[in-house]
Amino acid sequence: MTDRARRDMTVLTLRAPNGITVRLTNLGATLMGIETPDRAGRFANIMLGYADPADYPAAGGPDPDAYLGATCGRYANRIAGATFMLDGVRYQLSANEAPNHLHGGERNFHEVIWQIVVADDRRVVLSHHSPDGDQGYPGALDAVATFTLGDDGELAIVYTATTTRPTHVNLVSHGYFNLSGDPRTSTLDHRLWIDAAEILPIDAAGLPTGERRAIAGSAFDFTVPRMIGSRIDDDPQAQGGQGYNHNYVLGGAGVREVARLEHPISGRSLAVSTDQPGLQLYSGDFLGGSFAPRSGICLEAQHWPDSPNRADFPSTRLDPGATYRSETRLRFGLS
Ligand code: GLA
Repeated sequence: MTDRARRDMTVLTLRAPNGITVRLTNLGATLMGIETPDRAGRFANIMLGYADPADYPAAGGPDPDAYLGATCGRYANRIAGATFMLDGVRYQLSANEAPNHLHGGERNFHEVIWQIVVADDRRVVLSHHSPDGDQGYPGALDAVATFTLGDDGELAIVYTATTTRPTHVNLVSHGYFNLSGDPRTSTLDHRLWIDAAEILPIDAAGLPTGERRAIAGSAFDFTVPRMIGSRIDDDPQAQGGQGYNHNYVLGGAGVREVARLEHPISGRSLAVSTDQPGLQLYSGDFLGGSFAPRSGICLEAQHWPDSPNRADFPSTRLDPGATYRSETRLRFGLS
């Protein structure tokens, strides 16, 4: 990172009338922390992150592969072999998890300084220009991330993007939540509900195998709320210390509530609504720098991993003249 980029790193704070605050940085359009009250009215930060942008990996800090609170792009999650065919042309992407591509490549959206377009105490708009060929992707891409805090403290995260040539896009906000407010504790005692009847099983590299698997009654089934830790090591898909790291297939359309996380001890809850077709449940098993494995839970609203190589998955193609848009809402409450 250059001295100039280091100087440009800024902390931006959103504040709702009910006291909920959201801290962001333009480094990677990153959510650094969200303060919400427990049932006794005590506010605490419910995200894994740092107080200073200089502690994030792009600025030389630890946890290089954790993507703590970051915006991942151009393509969140994995693309097999770091390659895809588009209109008869094969594109070779940065293989930053060799031989595969993860979260946009070696120098992805979480490592760059985004331009600050709007920054007031209720809305932050950040933009990033990714040139044609960046990380191997076709088309110059202009991405915009808008974070809006509503009167009731609901946080809306909207991503838009346009391109100069046909390409693939899938942007995600990669927050790790720990509703206890204490990142030294495990999230296995959080209760989870996910409105999904199927997952995409993965191979040893974390890539979808192509199968869609019904999960009723299995360790992946969260249609009836239960503790994350209750069956996390039960299923061969979640064994080997890898925990949950799977895309849930979401039904329905439009922005709808797809998941709810509750921490019975503090009373804090988080409801996730999105218009996306998938939700990556990641139990944080690869954490290990400043934060222990399973000390944060990710609910990443996204398109399905490896879609550019899977004609039967919902398409992530973006053409010139069209606008990519994704909307995810986080509602903080008490259960
Ligand atoms: C995603 C992936 C995980 C891991 C994390 C970042 O959630 O699915 O395998 O790479 O990002 O550490």
